[in-house]
Amino acid sequence: MSERIYLSPPHMSGEEIQIVQQAFADNWIAPVGPQLKTFEENFCAYTGAKYAVAVSSGTAALHLALMVSDVHPGDEVFVSSLTFAASVNPILYVGAKPVFIDSEVNSWNMDPNLLEDALKSRSKMGKLPKAVIPVHLYGQSADMNAIMAICDRYGVAVIEDAAEVLGSSYCGRHPGTIGKIGIFSFNGNKIITTSGGGMLVSDDQRLVDHARKLSTQAREPVAHYEHIEIGYNYRMSNIVGAIGIGQLNVIEERVQRKREIYDYYRAHLGELAGLTFVNEMSYGRHTRWLSVVLINPDEFGLDREQVRLKLEDHNIESRPLWKPMHLQPVFDQYDVFGGVVAESLFNQGLCLPSGTALTVDQLDHIIALIYEMHANA
Ligand SMILES: Cc1ncc(COP(=O)(O)O)c(C=O)c1O
Repeated sequence: MSERIYLSPPHMSGEEIQIVQQAFADNWIAPVGPQLKTFEENFCAYTGAKYAVAVSSGTAALHLALMVSDVHPGDEVFVSSLTFAASVNPILYVGAKPVFIDSEVNSWNMDPNLLEDALKSRSKMGKLPKAVIPVHLYGQSADMNAIMAICDRYGVAVIEDAAEVLGSSYCGRHPGTIGKIGIFSFNGNKIITTSGGGMLVSDDQRLVDHARKLSTQAREPVAHYEHIEIGYNYRMSNIVGAIGIGQLNVIEERVQRKREIYDYYRAHLGELAGLTFVNEMSYGRHTRWLSVVLINPDEFGLDREQVRLKLEDHNIESRPLWKPMHLQPVFDQYDVFGGVVAESLFNQGLCLPSGTALTVDQLDHIIALIYEMHANA
């Protein structure tokens, strides 16, 4: 069988190993060090964030974001329903309750109209959420002007889950830097990876300083290990930060290649009956972190699961879209506003292999298989 084609495997530039070697040569095999500091500074320069703290994962960054936003047990937090569980689990870590908001049809991200309905309804009940977490999916920003205007009107903080959108834009800004706090992920399948890691950013230095302190066991700034709050061991290590420097140096190349891959799929498959490729919103750059296609089974002849399994038969990894959080057994006791858009995207959406090291031969192979499936359906 031919070599497996993965969904979005890591793609090192080659420079990362030299930066890691430098850290070794200087013996900075430590939880902090110059490479980590440089990674944070470069990340701020690239995204336009004022302050950043690098941590062990995007999930840890979101947990810290909720803690420094004073989200407490019993509070509610609104969050997109169409997302990965990592956007929601930290809400439970702090003892708060998620309330799920459906997607809008165009961007697939949090629907500002439903968000407004939800805030209006909670306001009538006299209990507004402590925070709203819009999740920017698959490389495209949510409509942040609309979301910010609504949340400002109700005085509710916005924490952006920007784990999937490094390299994208929204009206000239980087998503993740628009709300009070933003979080990013560098796990193995993201557009750049440090093997695992995350970043919390904000323009409010106090919040980032507090998150940094909590991420290093909440030591007070005295020599004798004084603690007045509970801390975590969430800091990114200097060696991991060294990988991040090299990866961030190639982010623009990676975005360009992701977009080329998407354009290639669309150019070759876009005319097939039952397949829909989603447009880039006019407000900014879609990175096409993952190339997603919607499959209408009545027109295509097979549903997304049948297509996925047939690709798997050829050792090709593809994946359904996120199963909405309001359909997850673990979260079924929580409220949801809307839900049908996310459900239909989940039923029809398939993420195609999108690794930036994919060759044209591999892309042609995937495309030919999809043609063949349609012809034989
Ligand atoms: C939308 C979203 N939020 C949060 C995360 C969590 O990031 P990490 O895996 O770095 O903890 C991920 C990715 O895994 C994600 O896709």
